[in-house]
Amino acid sequence: MARLSVDWPQLFCALSCIALAPLVPGYSFRNCIQNANHNGSFQCVHRFLTQVSSAVFDLPPHTIHVNISHNLLTQLPVGSFSGIPSLLSLRLDYNQIKHVEGSAFNNLSELLVLNLSYNKISQLTPSDFLGLENLCQLLVDHNCLATIQPDAFTTPRSLQTLDMSFNQLRNFSEVVSSITALRKLTFLDLSTNHLESLQHSAPLPPSLKFFYLCNNLLKALDCQRDFLNRNFTLDLSDNKISQFSKVDLRKVAWLILKNNPLDISEFLRFRDVDPQRVEYSGLRLHSQFANLCQHLGNGTMEHLFLQHNQISLRNLKSMSKCPAIKAWDLSHNYLIRDDCLDFVPQKEQVRSFILEHNRIQMLPSCSTGGNGVIKFPKLTYLSYRYNRILAIASHAFSHTAHVQTLLLNINNIAVINKTAFANLSDLLTLRLDNNLITDIYQETFHELTSLRILNLRNNRISIIFRNVFVNLSSLNILDLGGNKIRSLTNLSFSGLHNLTKLYLDRNYITHISREIFGDLVSLKVLDLDKNRIRYNSGLTEKSPFINLTKLNILKLQAQQPYGINIIPPKFFKGLFSLQALYLGENKMSLSRYEFEDLINLKTLSMPDTCNGIHSLNPGVFQNLQHLERLDLENVGLQFMSVDIVGSLCNLRTLVLGKNAIQTVNSTVLEHLPSLSYLDLRKNPFPCICSNSWFQNWSLYNPRVQVVYFYNQTCANQQTEYLYSFDARVCYLDIGHLMFEIILPFLFLFTFAPIIYGKGYWHLKYGLYIFRSWLNDYRGREESQQCYRYDAFISYNSKDEGWVLQELVPNLETEGSQCFKLCLHHRDFELGKYIIDNIVDSIYQSRKTVCVMSRSYLESEWCSMELELASYRLFHELKDVVILIFLEKIPEAELSTYHKMRKVMKKKTYIQWPTDVEAQKLFWIKVREAIKGSSRAKDSGPEVDS
Ligand SMILES: *[C@@H]1O[C@H](CO)[C@@H](O)[C@H](O)[C@H]1NC(C)=O
Ligand SMILES: *[C@@H]1O[C@H](CO)[C@@H](O)[C@H](O)[C@H]1NC(C)=O
Ligand SMILES: *[C@@H]1O[C@H](CO)[C@@H](O)[C@H](O)[C@H]1NC(C)=O
Ligand SMILES: *[C@@H]1O[C@H](CO)[C@@H](O)[C@H](O)[C@H]1NC(C)=O
Repeated sequence: MARLSVDWPQLFCALSCIALAPLVPGYSFRNCIQNANHNGSFQCVHRFLTQVSSAVFDLPPHTIHVNISHNLLTQLPVGSFSGIPSLLSLRLDYNQIKHVEGSAFNNLSELLVLNLSYNKISQLTPSDFLGLENLCQLLVDHNCLATIQPDAFTTPRSLQTLDMSFNQLRNFSEVVSSITALRKLTFLDLSTNHLESLQHSAPLPPSLKFFYLCNNLLKALDCQRDFLNRNFTLDLSDNKISQFSKVDLRKVAWLILKNNPLDISEFLRFRDVDPQRVEYSGLRLHSQFANLCQHLGNGTMEHLFLQHNQISLRNLKSMSKCPAIKAWDLSHNYLIRDDCLDFVPQKEQVRSFILEHNRIQMLPSCSTGGNGVIKFPKLTYLSYRYNRILAIASHAFSHTAHVQTLLLNINNIAVINKTAFANLSDLLTLRLDNNLITDIYQETFHELTSLRILNLRNNRISIIFRNVFVNLSSLNILDLGGNKIRSLTNLSFSGLHNLTKLYLDRNYITHISREIFGDLVSLKVLDLDKNRIRYNSGLTEKSPFINLTKLNILKLQAQQPYGINIIPPKFFKGLFSLQALYLGENKMSLSRYEFEDLINLKTLSMPDTCNGIHSLNPGVFQNLQHLERLDLENVGLQFMSVDIVGSLCNLRTLVLGKNAIQTVNSTVLEHLPSLSYLDLRKNPFPCICSNSWFQNWSLYNPRVQVVYFYNQTCANQQTEYLYSFDARVCYLDIGHLMFEIILPFLFLFTFAPIIYGKGYWHLKYGLYIFRSWLNDYRGREESQQCYRYDAFISYNSKDEGWVLQELVPNLETEGSQCFKLCLHHRDFELGKYIIDNIVDSIYQSRKTVCVMSRSYLESEWCSMELELASYRLFHELKDVVILIFLEKIPEAELSTYHKMRKVMKKKTYIQWPTDVEAQKLFWIKVREAIKGSSRAKDSGPEVDS
């Protein structure tokens, strides 16, 4: 293969890449994106689709997951998914589906999960689910279901989960008849419907484990006595049930009755339910505790839920007769204090205590009074979340000294006594996030030697004193995000030898150094997002990360207020294990050596790091040979080149959206043999012949997905699409063209000898004067559009001499009429994007004069100008292009410039004569052409030479 000779220093990697894959081809889907890491998964969300076929028609048959949520589908026609029979899960939630036409899901015999939530389906019929023999989960919540036909679920017999909540079901009997034969059904949700009665004519499936009937209009349990007597969780909350009689609920595993207008003392006399398996939340129980405890009987009870009962401490005093309860939940009550949980009976049995959403303001000292007896020796889980705690006193948890999880988050804690957490040597998780803590002292966490997780996020800590964490040698996760930390010292994190995750995001840190992280030898994740780290010069001290040899993930996104600016050389030195680096939302520029040491990096994400249009330095990624994902969205790139991405031989995902890339060089893709996902959305690709290979490649290759290529509009015509750009103009019928071009030459060579010498030019001159007079005369009525220039001159810099010495003086100053010319070196606006400059110049000029020469044809910009101008000629039917040939270019050479040939075919072109006499006529013709009407004439080519 000739490609092996590519002269590129990427040694073995690059060479093997090239040897393996000469050209990696690509493909695209109309309305779906294939998951970059799982080629059977597709996202077709938020596409305004009204037809399901628009999403699935081009998906491959091996597709197993499709997400078509958030579209405008109104119906599902027969056989909608017959092309993708291997589907396992299908999401159609958030559409407007009213009808599932019979057999819509035909062929989906493998489907396990079907999500039809948030649609407008009003009834379910047997034909709806035909073909879904193996369906396990069906979600039809948030629809308008009013009727379910009795045999609606005859095909999906293996259904395990059926969610029909948030509908308008009224007829319970109908629902039960439809599901009674589902032998595997374990979860049935009928909450938030309009059920008024539980009358039924069929039994529930015996497999049912969760049966939700909350938020209906049930007044009584008017079913057969045994109907609900199953070992399941039965949720009857938010109904209008006032009476329990006649039914047997003795086998019910867990009964939820919240917010029913029950007469509670009557309910406590109800015998056909196990009182220990009832959730007593929301039953206005506050005055009935003595009663309740008696009712609960003796022995040990697993859970007592007493949420939403308006309980205050006074009420709880009457609980001393309760049995031993392992897990308490007193959330959503009116407690202002908890008095060290003194009201709790049989304290030594308690395992977990939850007191969330109360009004507790203070956690007092609960010290044991010197005798060392721990009142709650088995309590391991204690939660005070969502209270109003302001302060924690010394020894606040001595009565629960064996607690392992302590949740104090979401309070107003500002003061923590230095010995508040004394004795908690078993504590594993301590959550203090979302409070008002300003200071933590060296003693605060001193005794928490087992602590694994410490969360201090969203407080007001500004200083981390030395050695505050020094005893936390078991700590794995320390979250200090969302504080006001300005600086860290050498001893801030001392002792944290086992820390694996450190979150310092959203602080005011300006400076980091290797000494700060010196002890964190086990660190795997370091999050420094949204701080104020900024470097202005490349010269800094040594790498701050040099000791973090185990670090896997480093986040440095969005440094405030303007970004990190530059990354000093050797900044990442030592990060040999780093796998993911996040640098997005920073204004920064890169030189060549930043990433040198990151040899194991798999993910490099630096979107939105735009400092204006620029290009990356060659070789910037050259050591990242394990890189699999590179996100360069919105970084101001103008092109990708081999020297930038050429070494990334394991790269699978390349995101280059929102850049200024106009063309993709095929050589670049040759150097990315593992590429499977290429995102180039929102780049200004013009529809020109040099992009036609890319069009072809994007649509027809089997290995690289070009994300939403069908949505790529032409930069030179926003209403047209690159995929439909007619590349045939690039391969015009050569024979026909040859004839047209050669015929005039033949003619000329035949007759030239007859009209000899300069006489010929005199003749032509006269003819032209006459014709221009005629044109002037006719053209007077033509409405004059306002143009800034008469002509935009497109030329190559090599022909600048001719343009400045011949063309400009001849057209701008001499002659009867002076034209206003637009020249790029003189008239282009500074700072404006070059494409915009070209486009604007073409559209602000009445004509575009292309000064053709060999150098012109070879120059990329010039051919772009020709393309853009000829676009106006072909698509807007404006006669705007004038071709001037400075030298004679043989047809064989021209044949590679398809577009230009098409222009020539349609247009006058004028040859610069060497003969001085002939030049007079030349200028007249040029003037004539510039003055001429802009309406396209349908005449054939007019050739002079
Ligand atoms: C499907 O799309 C929705 C909406 O964008 C998204 O929230 C959800 O995570 C997606 N589900 C799957 C399984 O990809
Ligand atoms: C889909 O199912 C229908 C009816 O069962 C059958 O006629 C058709 O051949 C199937 N199509 C495919 C592609 O399997
Ligand atoms: C189904 O869709 C709803 C609504 O978008 C979503 O909340 C739920 O998680 C989805 N469930 C499954 C299993 O896909
Ligand atoms: C593509 O890139 C290669 C290597 O950088 C270069 O030699 C070649 O000229 C480029 N091709 C085009 C069409 O720009």
